[in-house]
Amino acid sequence: MRILGIETSCDETAVAIIETSGRPSFAKASAGKQGTRNIKVLSNVISSQVRLHAKYGGVVPNLAAREHVKNIGHVFRLALKQANLSQKSKVKSQKLPIDLIAVTRGPGLGPALLVGIAFAKAVAWKYDKPIIGVNHLEGHIYSNWLKPVGVNSKLQIINYKLPILNLIVSGGHTELVLMEGHGKYKIIGETLDDAVGEAFDKVARLLGLGYPGGPLISKLAEKGDPEHYPLPSPMIYSKNYNFSYSGLKTAVLYLIRDLNLKKLDNQTKSDIAASFQKAAINVLIKKTLRAAKEYGVDSIMLSGGVSANILLRSEFKKMAEENNLKYSRPQIEYTGDNAAMIALTGYMNFAKSPSSLKLRRANDFPWKSLEMDANLGF
Ligand code: KG4
Ligand code: ZN
Repeated sequence: MRILGIETSCDETAVAIIETSGRPSFAKASAGKQGTRNIKVLSNVISSQVRLHAKYGGVVPNLAAREHVKNIGHVFRLALKQANLSQKSKVKSQKLPIDLIAVTRGPGLGPALLVGIAFAKAVAWKYDKPIIGVNHLEGHIYSNWLKPVGVNSKLQIINYKLPILNLIVSGGHTELVLMEGHGKYKIIGETLDDAVGEAFDKVARLLGLGYPGGPLISKLAEKGDPEHYPLPSPMIYSKNYNFSYSGLKTAVLYLIRDLNLKKLDNQTKSDIAASFQKAAINVLIKKTLRAAKEYGVDSIMLSGGVSANILLRSEFKKMAEENNLKYSRPQIEYTGDNAAMIALTGYMNFAKSPSSLKLRRANDFPWKSLEMDANLGF
């Protein structure tokens, strides 16, 4: 099957095409048999709007929607071109050699999501293709199974013993999610206020850096001393698995005020960035390990935009190895928002029902009832 993925939940306009063969089977995998299928990303095109939003220090939803409208047609054509799929045929459905369209339906920014959904429905209608709505967070989990464009790989669910504990860290979410099977999720912890990516972005703003703040803080922190300023790792000792980042952000605000921002030299800024980064990551690692032990899991997975962070990746690996846990982190190109993860998740959901693979036409699927849900949960 060839699956077209469309993602516009925030500030990336993304279209990807993946190819799969065989049927995925979680049931078999958990029963100890090999549940492997072939999967290949044919194209993965992302048009980022970060430069536009940088002036505002964060994403402006209506501007994001306007940019998606402007760009999505080009991104779609580019994705088809990179996948070497021609559109020449007299038969309506063969003009687009795709078997399924998967589109993000939430969570995310309402106006931005609507653009992707409207575009996906238009393509489904025009070429008579089935369409399926995808949860963006489930997409981040599945980003762990994606290999670079053009590389044939196996979707080896068996490598990771279920249940898998997922740490999803992005600009909008900080979640610990237990994946008991495909489509079976239990949130065991989440942020009570700011998401960890948001904290990186806000601290970057306090330090006078640009947007998005995560990569800039991480770069600055390379030259800093993480022990220089003892900052709090909020809720590290709380008995539950929830997170809170607004206190840490406020502690940085007071620190900068006391030190007087205008007089901060580069070394001081680097020390603040390194100390903040350490405090922010420490709590993620500690709580993931504690949850893994309490829930008796063997496998842990990281995902979301913040999973690009080098320190988080290395601490996650270290913690897993020291505790004999199987672990996975997405390839760097799939840490941020992308449509390949949406295509794969759409395929997994579509293939769940045995009859679904026989459905080939738009009208076989309830595409008209596919609706955006900005607050979609697991
Ligand atoms: O998953 P994502 O692309 O979009 C959302 O769904 O939110 O995540 C974006 C977030 C931003 O807050 C950005 O600052 C953060 O991921 N981020 C990082 C790094 N790269 C991106 N945070 C820390 N370190 C990084 N290297
Ligand atoms: Zn995301």
